Amino acid sequence: MKIGLLHSLIRKDEKFLLDEFEKIKGVELVMIDDRKITFNLLEDHFNLDIVVERCINHSRALHALKLFETAGIKCVNTSKVATICGDKLLTSIALKENNVPQPEVRVAFTEESALNAIEEMGYPVVLKPAVGSWGRLLSKVNDRDAAEAILEHKTVLGSYHHSIFYIQKYVEKKGRDIRSFVVGDKCIAAIYRTSSHWITNTARGGIATNCPVTDELNDLSVRAAKAVGGGIVAIDIFETEQGLMVNEVNYTMEYKNSITTTGVNIPKFMAEYVIKVAEDR
Ligand SMILES: Nc1ncnc2c1ncn2[C@@H]1O[C@H](COP(=O)(O)OP(=O)(O)OP(=O)(O)O)[C@@H](O)[C@H]1O
Ligand SMILES: [Mg+2]
Repeated sequence: MKIGLLHSLIRKDEKFLLDEFEKIKGVELVMIDDRKITFNLLEDHFNLDIVVERCINHSRALHALKLFETAGIKCVNTSKVATICGDKLLTSIALKENNVPQPEVRVAFTEESALNAIEEMGYPVVLKPAVGSWGRLLSKVNDRDAAEAILEHKTVLGSYHHSIFYIQKYVEKKGRDIRSFVVGDKCIAAIYRTSSHWITNTARGGIATNCPVTDELNDLSVRAAKAVGGGIVAIDIFETEQGLMVNEVNYTMEYKNSITTTGVNIPKFMAEYVIKVAEDR
């Protein structure tokens, strides 16, 4: 079986995944560097059974996936999943359509209407770029003065990505949230991310500890994964008074620091799943 690994820099996450593929008999890995590949849309025929996407850059991942799929190659994750997960608004829509609970979200297109929406929701709220990751350019807005300032900055200084105002109700999460890992139809592991800062990403200093996968967590995680198209995804979840809520779904999941924390060989599950999808004709 020929497995294409679409990558940029080989981080520890990719290294661990490669190691797992190499342990499986009959697997031939073909490394595809997104800094080197060119596509020839009308001519491309790839001699591959499947492509696994592990790019760092969302735009490269999304477009490469579309091009591989157009050439008839199965991909994990699919371009549909990348499209939805790469955009927080599309994710919110998919969650809503599948009755997966999420925090209150409002969307506006101008400074004035965004301010109205925020005042209606009540403070605090969180403003997020619809496309973005690693907790960058997120703003927690505690009062009207801050709302006006941030909306003006986004309007005057922001790029195209900031022209849509994605506004979420701030969720009191008692210093932590959950990151759960879904592979196919199972939540295989989860971590708590605890931080004294309201942004709990481990990339921003959040501390990871093991989170037991209860039936409730498994059920919600898998439903969220299916809502965006399924595959291998990581779900951000808040524990609220109304129960668990999904914040967002990540499609090129990072897991390098969660293997020892959870005691689960996450890349092994990923490799086995990819082979299953490739064989499934
Ligand atoms: N509405 C909210 N209420 C409370 N905390 C929030 C809220 N939105 C985000 N956060 C905190 O900020 C962190 C980052 O937010 P989010 O996951 O939405 O964006 P991101 O990290 O930039 O995306 P990615 O996970 O793809 O890197 C969350 O893990 C959470 O700790
Ligand atoms: Mg996140």
